[in-house]
Amino acid sequence: NVKKDLIGKRLLITAGPTIEPIDPIRYITNPSTGKMGYEIAKAGILRGADVMLISGPTNLAKPYGVKLIRVDTAIQMYNAVMDNISNADIVVCAAAVADYRPEKKEKNKIKKMDEDLCIKLIRNPDILYEIGKEKGKKILVGFAAETENLIENAKSKIIKKNLDLIVANDILQEGAGFNKDTNIVQIIDRNFNVKKYSIMSKAEVAHVILDEIKKII
Ligand code: PMT
Repeated sequence: NVKKDLIGKRLLITAGPTIEPIDPIRYITNPSTGKMGYEIAKAGILRGADVMLISGPTNLAKPYGVKLIRVDTAIQMYNAVMDNISNADIVVCAAAVADYRPEKKEKNKIKKMDEDLCIKLIRNPDILYEIGKEKGKKILVGFAAETENLIENAKSKIIKKNLDLIVANDILQEGAGFNKDTNIVQIIDRNFNVKKYSIMSKAEVAHVILDEIKKII
């Protein structure tokens, strides 16, 4: 008995981590499982939206009814988003995109040496920032994963990335953030109104986010 309140809306979601290769067998990544983004995709389908999910590597199955594009790196995620953005009415970026990548991927396995090893990291594109620059009529929702100054940092991301809403999670809190079935979030709008929620399953959080998006529509 979920309300079908997003019929005809095209929802684009990013989810999961990115992996940034160092050599053929080593890479930089983070503990995102994709659960948060996949739950938003599932909730979108239940509510009648047309859902495209652009996902970094996860162990999760493709949610029923979703168009799924799987990528590995931040650059691949950026390209997949840019190829599909023009059709979207609503964009939710739940992915934990690596901000940096090794300057080059070594062709062969790096051999152990006596000396220490230095790997130069260079900036990846900020996908959400790039979407925000050409926002148009789209509703744009970001996440903020913080370990300190949660609300302050989340508010500055709203301005910098031109967002309608940001979902702030303190990833050091028990029951919140990466690799959990639950999350503890605060949702902030463009006027800096803050709504604080207690611990919920990621599926419930997904519906709360879509409720807030629906209010803006
Ligand atoms: O995947 P799970 O295990 O379920 O964990 C969920 C989660 C903790 C990953 C999720 O709730 C979350 O907080 N996702 C955002 C993680 C993150 O990278 O936050 P950030 O504060 O570094 O980035 C801010 C926003 O910009 C995010 O919407 C992010 O998707 C986006 N971003 C960041 C960097 C970048 N290069 N490109 C981006 O699009």
